[in-house]
Amino acid sequence: MQLALAPMAGITDQVFRSLCFEMGCDLATTEMVSAQGYLTAPADRNAYRFLLARKETEGPLAVQIFGSDPVHMENAAARLSELGLFCAVDINMGCPAQKVVGGQSGSALMKDIPLAAEIVRRCVKASLLPVTVKMRIGWDEESINAVDFARAVTDAGATALCVHGRTRKQQYSGKANWEEIARVRQAVSVPVTANGDIWDAASALECARITGCHSLAVGRGALGNPWLFREIKAAFEGKPYEKPSFPEIMETALRHGREMIAWKGEKSGMLEMRKHLGWYVTGQRGVARLRTKLNLATSLDEVEKLLSTLLHTGAEE
Ligand SMILES: Cc1cc2nc3c(=O)[nH]c(=O)nc-3n(C[C@H](O)[C@H](O)[C@H](O)COP(=O)(O)O)c2cc1C
Repeated sequence: MQLALAPMAGITDQVFRSLCFEMGCDLATTEMVSAQGYLTAPADRNAYRFLLARKETEGPLAVQIFGSDPVHMENAAARLSELGLFCAVDINMGCPAQKVVGGQSGSALMKDIPLAAEIVRRCVKASLLPVTVKMRIGWDEESINAVDFARAVTDAGATALCVHGRTRKQQYSGKANWEEIARVRQAVSVPVTANGDIWDAASALECARITGCHSLAVGRGALGNPWLFREIKAAFEGKPYEKPSFPEIMETALRHGREMIAWKGEKSGMLEMRKHLGWYVTGQRGVARLRTKLNLATSLDEVEKLLSTLLHTGAEE
């Protein structure tokens, strides 16, 4: 079973991805990168430097682009494929965010199969790397077109698909439709990665059973829990798995913080870490007020003290 980290804007940067690789992740994808933004940005623009940064210790990494203009997409795919950093160019055809679909990108492409296919065709021609597609199952319940869409983009040259089993309208609500992912897998000859609602070993096993996919991608389940990859791998190998202890969680959270700060500086690094720290302590006893304090912390020393208090007293101060 291949386990991938699903791309998440604002989250799957090089520091988080490295932790996931360490825990057994086989493949990751960058946060989504605007094709037009990338092409028109000055070479030293920090945003793209950070978005495209990749640690040497990482495993295989795809770069994800979004956009709706076939020429921009083709040029971005060509340039990004030449950087020598990535194993594939992934095209985002699943993002539900208004600012993305408003520009006819992301999941809006599921409403325009000819345009989606044209984008894939051009990217395949221009890219030195394989081109893959991340999609949903349709725009809304009334227009589920995952099978037709998958056939069109694979006919256009996409070499693999990752299907999030929800419609655009559902955003992240409701339950992922794994049966529809199974239909896509049966309809195309390229590898299909199943995605949506894999939270633990049991849901991973069930998703694999229903979809028949040999590759799964986890997103939200890995937040504050990069150990999820280890847990799922163990389940597929029939091995026992022990959840990390709180000291281990704390140590990883602090290491995550140290690496983030070394990369982005203390101010931006601490801002980035707030959400991660909140996720790391989820499920621990007595964290309600601790979260607020973690959110106000301006240094890792402060975070360490707050976490030590939780560790030693089992509750907030
Ligand atoms: C905060 C957040 C950011 C996301 N950003 C992206 C993105 O940049 N590109 C993309 O293809 N999907 C993105 N997604 C969707 C995830 O890759 C994934 O398809 C979705 O979360 C369902 O998987 P899950 O149930 O395991 O979380 C994002 C999801 C979340 C929650």
